[in-house]
Amino acid sequence: MKDAKILVVGSLNMDITATTHIFPAEGETVLGDRLSEAPGGKGLNQACQIGRLGGNVKMVGALGNDDSGKALVATLKASGVDTEDILIKDGVTTGTAIVLLEVDEKGNGANRIIVIPGANLLFNYEDIAFLEKMIKEFAIIILQLEIPMSVNEKIAALAKKNGIKVMLNPAPYAPLSDELLRDIDFLSPNEHELQALTGIDVRRDDGSYSKDKIKEAFMLLHARGLKALLITLGESGSVYIDEDKFLEVAAIKTIAVDTTAAGDSFVSSFSYRIAQGDDILKAMTFATKAAAYTVSHLGASSSLPRLADLD
Ligand code: RIB
Repeated sequence: MKDAKILVVGSLNMDITATTHIFPAEGETVLGDRLSEAPGGKGLNQACQIGRLGGNVKMVGALGNDDSGKALVATLKASGVDTEDILIKDGVTTGTAIVLLEVDEKGNGANRIIVIPGANLLFNYEDIAFLEKMIKEFAIIILQLEIPMSVNEKIAALAKKNGIKVMLNPAPYAPLSDELLRDIDFLSPNEHELQALTGIDVRRDDGSYSKDKIKEAFMLLHARGLKALLITLGESGSVYIDEDKFLEVAAIKTIAVDTTAAGDSFVSSFSYRIAQGDDILKAMTFATKAAAYTVSHLGASSSLPRLADLD
């Protein structure tokens, strides 16, 4: 459906990134190369991505009443996101993420992220129950796990009751209830989150992924009520599996300068294209392009492509 409205309920962080040529080992100090500060948070990245692609997107989450919060709202607005109902909480700080980015001599980056949630965890469903009145406006809702689980569970249940699709990006990992699995339409973990959720490692020793293991992981979650799994596999691309389909899309080869927000770009671009009426394979192919652009640029929200960047 063209112009379908999308809702992102999720986290907003100010990302502070320290770039280094080598991660410090335990007890070690290293000299880094660069320090930068830029908007991030899985929810914000996903909302900005959809806005930059030209989508009609609203973001709901919580910020502190501070300079970081104001900067995050400005970034969302500049990306075309509706920020009207974002909560501004007095006396708490906006979420912060400390990103350590190790860049090797070939320019490939690897990251490690610590999130200090601040306002992201300091709201509850009652704060956003106003969504009940407008829920039918949305074609799809995107959730992640940097906000209270009870908020995610209630929003997913509300969406299910009203026939609205839900995409859950289970990052960072947390155990999921059977009710939540039943209420969502798509679960999009990376392979590490999938392993934490199911105990199944889908990688073989030679670095390829095992279709049988993916099927096994899906069947475990399907038995608990899950309809569809969309797994991101980094350089190996992505796999979609439901009761009837098994679809694979290869990654686009690029120098992975910084993988921060690549998953956010993929999950939200996929959801956006599904809301626009694409079939699963078309949506995965589009999302693969968006994610490839993101990994080849530095930062979280700063690395997300506009539609013109993908041509
Ligand atoms: O997915 C990337 C994001 O994870 C970063 O922007 C950081 O804020 C954390 O939420």
